[in-house]
Amino acid sequence: MENTTKPVAPNPRSTYVVDFEPPEKERIRLNTQHDIFVENTGHLLPPAIPDHESLIAIADVATGTGIWLTQLSELLPSTATLDGFDITDRLFPDPSTLRQNVSFSLLNVLEPIPEILHEKYDVVHIRGLCLVLKTGEWDGVVKNVAKMIKPGGYLAWNETNPGSTQAIPPTKIASQGAAVLGYMCKLRGGDPFCCNSIPTHLRNNGFTVISPPTQLTMGYAPTPPTVDTGFYLHVTGNTFKPSTVEAWSRNYASGLCSIVSYMAQHNVPNEWFTPETAGEFIKEFLEETGEGGSRVFFDLVCVIGKKGG
Ligand SMILES: C[S@@+](CC[C@H](N)C(=O)[O-])C[C@H]1O[C@@H](n2cnc3c(N)ncnc32)[C@H](O)[C@@H]1O
Repeated sequence: MENTTKPVAPNPRSTYVVDFEPPEKERIRLNTQHDIFVENTGHLLPPAIPDHESLIAIADVATGTGIWLTQLSELLPSTATLDGFDITDRLFPDPSTLRQNVSFSLLNVLEPIPEILHEKYDVVHIRGLCLVLKTGEWDGVVKNVAKMIKPGGYLAWNETNPGSTQAIPPTKIASQGAAVLGYMCKLRGGDPFCCNSIPTHLRNNGFTVISPPTQLTMGYAPTPPTVDTGFYLHVTGNTFKPSTVEAWSRNYASGLCSIVSYMAQHNVPNEWFTPETAGEFIKEFLEETGEGGSRVFFDLVCVIGKKGG
């Protein structure tokens, strides 16, 4: 293929690879992913964070549609403050639908955090930056969000390893489609196995990493992570809660189709399709991952850090 690659930068204010999709489509994909994440991890706020009822302030950074925060607001007392932040407001919920103690504002987590937010929060939650952050940016983000957390407060980070994506059972195009996510992550300067280094970033920035629970209470049995990974939870592709398998794979397929279209439009070089054959690639991928076919997964990871002080 000729080297006619255009820069991969769909939105100069964000490096997120699928934010060129119409908001409605992206909202559905993120909210479906949220539901499956919660089903598989068994919580919105991890039980390792004590005494949820007495939390005073919680932030959700890179909040997207704000679904995590708005659902949490229904579980916590109305005295808790819940603030969502994102680099763009395009997916923020309609303010008229929110409880009075919930708000959403713009914030670029790559830039210094305004002083008014310093040590404001008992808990900061982050989810889904694996396709956003470049390898060298993770440490700076941890440093920034650490500033937002009160001494003794918590950082709860949920993520997926794009490089862990696999098709089960593996078939030709489903496996190639599964490889696209890690490939794009790397091409854009990210680390397809970024989850593995989150615990180190937390430890390097004054957090104690919380060990995995000794007993899981989700009603099914993903293998508990070993303590040396630093993960609190790790749901691998082959241990997904059975009732979520179908929806997760379909959601992945929808996201993948968007990414393949993007790659074709921007002539992104790759070994699987050209701009001319991208449509056929998507068609075959959807056939192989359709009813009764291969299922596509990536691992879900939860890391929790307690800030010193
Ligand atoms: C995969 S979405 C995750 C959304 C949400 N956390 C969830 O799990 O549903 C990534 C989000 O990161 C946001 N984002 C990208 N770059 C950012 C930045 N520098 N600062 C804050 N948010 C950013 C995007 O706008 C997008 O909403």
